[in-house]
Amino acid sequence: MNPPTKLLILVGTVTGNAEAVAQAVEMGCADLIDRIEVRRMDGLNIQAFEADAIYLICTSTHGSGDVPANARRLYDSLGSEPRYLGHVRYGVMALGDSAYAQTFCNGGLCFDERLADLGAVRVGEVFRHDASDGTDAAALGNAWCRKWLALAMRAALPA
Ligand SMILES: Cc1cc2nc3c(=O)[nH]c(=O)nc-3n(C[C@H](O)[C@H](O)[C@H](O)COP(=O)(O)O)c2cc1C
Repeated sequence: MNPPTKLLILVGTVTGNAEAVAQAVEMGCADLIDRIEVRRMDGLNIQAFEADAIYLICTSTHGSGDVPANARRLYDSLGSEPRYLGHVRYGVMALGDSAYAQTFCNGGLCFDERLADLGAVRVGEVFRHDASDGTDAAALGNAWCRKWLALAMRAALPA
């Protein structure tokens, strides 16, 4: 069995920051894997996890610590149409703002919790970006992803 040759980045966003990070990763990590696809979460459900791919959840947080509106259907589907996702290896890029201290980056953490509940295996730590700290989410996200992707490709190899 060969490791997946595709990175599928699922994007939850309201104002486009998470999408910009995903696009930076698409360009900046192109030399590390055969194919990178950036897909907005709009309209997706749990079937999105049927692809032969390494998954990256790239999402912001809105409302009172909620996932973005375009991520709601996919997030709800993980709870309402559960199935075993033991084949899934994923990472999480969580965008937030520490001004929301109680719910910092909660959107990404919500996805992490649901995916883990279904048996999916997270690779590496969750990447968190703080909109209040003045740093460039796209540059930091790409640097994080280059290291993460090497780990994820190794984790996807059969034991
Ligand atoms: C109305 C509103 C509510 C927000 N709520 C939270 C929150 O609860 N926790 C958090 O960490 N960030 C919160 N944020 C910050 C966003 O997640 C952050 O600005 C992020 O970069 C936006 O990314 P996006 O453009 O991809 O949606 C909120 C932002 C807005 C405008």
